[in-house]
Amino acid sequence: GLLSSPPQDLAGVRVAVSAGPTREYLDPVRYISNPSSGKMGFAVAEVARARGADVTLVTGPVGLADLPGVRTVRVESALEMHAAMLEAARDANVVVMTAAVADYRAADPATEKRPKTPGDVTVTFTPNPDILAALGAEKGERVLVGFAMETDAGVARAAEKARRKNADFILLNYPTKVGTAFGGDDNEVTLVRADGSFEAWPRVSKREVASRLLDAALAVRGG
Ligand code: CTP
Ligand code: CA
Repeated sequence: GLLSSPPQDLAGVRVAVSAGPTREYLDPVRYISNPSSGKMGFAVAEVARARGADVTLVTGPVGLADLPGVRTVRVESALEMHAAMLEAARDANVVVMTAAVADYRAADPATEKRPKTPGDVTVTFTPNPDILAALGAEKGERVLVGFAMETDAGVARAAEKARRKNADFILLNYPTKVGTAFGGDDNEVTLVRADGSFEAWPRVSKREVASRLLDAALAVRGG
């Protein structure tokens, strides 16, 4: 936990945050997923709670324990995360999507284990709902924050995502930075707004990224 109690500058603020990967089952015993650790989203939830916010954390399958004082909803698939985040965001003031939501799910998942067959196998995938875009379409007064991992043209792509999804800003990172992004305790991100303006932050702990993110969200609210 934090050594000393930080200022309670988020008292009365309701924060909804998503974390981790999703699992998209092909059959009852097989799924596709990604290496998201959930650490970034848990850091946002922990820091927001420490600063006095009322926090709901919706997380995919991760190896992280519940945080004291944080309402935690554990889900598996993108469809489950979609439903849980829409519910959590309903009365939230700040909504943060750190989750690595699978873009596709099996179009026709098998209800029994698929036996192995000789030769190649084809699986048809269908697009998952875009949770951030759905939240952006009903944005109201909420501050809406996304994340994006890109391998090139990062700022332009992130700005395009912020516009398309109606997010106030997106925190951009790159999968290749050692010790950052998937699984690391640090992160090095660039805050990108829909208008293409951006601020590169130094490499700091995920908790420090969380704290700066919450400062930037408060600034959007005008406080
Ligand atoms: N996101 C989401 N729902 C999805 C996919 C993404 O809410 N089905 C959110 C992520 O949580 C993240 C932001 O959208 O905050 C950007 O995710 P990203 O995967 O970079 O965006 P995509 O639109 O899926 O674009 P890409 O083709 O680059 O994967
Ligand atoms: Ca994606």
